[in-house]
Amino acid sequence: MERTEMPKPQSLEDVIQALHRIFADDKVDVDEVQALLESYQSNSHEWLKYAKFDQYRYTRNLVDEGNGKFNLMILCWGEGHGSSIHDHADSHCFLKMLQGQLKETIFNWPGEGKKELTKKKETILQENQCTYINDSIGVHRVENVSHTEVAVSLHLYVPPFDSCHCFDERSGHKKKVRVTFTSKYGERVPLANAVSQENN
Ligand SMILES: [Fe+2]
Repeated sequence: MERTEMPKPQSLEDVIQALHRIFADDKVDVDEVQALLESYQSNSHEWLKYAKFDQYRYTRNLVDEGNGKFNLMILCWGEGHGSSIHDHADSHCFLKMLQGQLKETIFNWPGEGKKELTKKKETILQENQCTYINDSIGVHRVENVSHTEVAVSLHLYVPPFDSCHCFDERSGHKKKVRVTFTSKYGERVPLANAVSQENN
């Protein structure tokens, strides 16, 4: 089917509106979404109100709930902060860099029995770059390996999910974990609700 070329988004608000248009339909065109996110030129004035950092761990900050079709969020990574190795609950996951760099390590799914996870691919994600993963590609860890620079990334999950699995690299053992938000729409959520066991 022919696809009409989407205009380049001029702001984060343009991106959000375009995502609402795209996901009004239930089909997901991964390339189209990835191209849209990559074409947005990050402007910190547009997303700073969502960027709530924590001293000890990275934070998840909800930007838009996409009428129940997707979750758009901003993750803030302090120096040296990283995620566990995790899956994506059968969802599509897009990660677009807004500031700084992140290292993504993709692992193969653990096989039968308890085995060490094997690395599949390692990438340094640069500012404005957008990458994509789903469970058929593998599981991954995302890290800000810099000890001097913070990093900020925009994440889109389609459909949204509130739990996923984390994996122990050595044993391949997995456990189900709930994911929570540090803030929603620019407002911090009460601490008791924001304590995440681990996340994506
Ligand atoms: Fe992830």
